[in-house]
Amino acid sequence: MELISITKHNIYDVLRLKLKDDQIGFVSSNAFSIAESSVNPDYQTRAAMVDGKIVGFAMYTEWVNASWMKEQKPGEYYIPRVMVDKSYQGNGYGRKLMESLLNEIEKNRPKAIHIVYCPDNTVAKALYLSLGFEEYGKNSDGETLARLTL
Ligand SMILES: CC(C)(COP(=O)(O)OP(=O)(O)OC[C@H]1O[C@@H](n2cnc3c(N)ncnc32)[C@H](O)[C@@H]1OP(=O)(O)O)[C@@H](O)C(=O)NCCC(=O)NCCS
Repeated sequence: MELISITKHNIYDVLRLKLKDDQIGFVSSNAFSIAESSVNPDYQTRAAMVDGKIVGFAMYTEWVNASWMKEQKPGEYYIPRVMVDKSYQGNGYGRKLMESLLNEIEKNRPKAIHIVYCPDNTVAKALYLSLGFEEYGKNSDGETLARLTL
């Protein structure tokens, strides 16, 4: 798997990625995320590519500058979006995507990496905890916040 930037050549593949019906609401649409990233230069969007096919999407940012941030946490990173297309799920791509994303973020020598998920998203929760994230609270929408301390 390779994590690549969103370009005019792959954006339609990223926009076509879909969730299962019972996952809708677990993560904002990729169109929403790309819109956010277009006005937040700190937001980094990535497409996950396997054998030339786009199978997933993720977004991360350093915890600085966004309007929703009540406090700035330079050196700490936040992953608000991770998804794998419904037709590619269950093949290890979600885990590989997370490992690749953490490797990329760790090149910035972060103090911590935060992630967010719905409390009833048991698959995401188990995946993140197995990678070393520890739950520490909820955001204002009642979603679970977890942190990997480095
Ligand atoms: C979370 C998500 C990215 C995982 O992607 P994936 O490609 O299915 O993940 P993997 O195939 O690498 O599986 C990861 C682990 O979850 C388990 N898993 C995957 N789908 C599962 C399911 N439907 N039921 C139970 N366990 C499941 C796998 O067995 C695997 O466990 P293991 O590595 O300990 O063996 C994917 O389910 C998804 O896109 N969900 C909707 C969006 C979302 O919830 N994003 C996270 C919040 S931002």
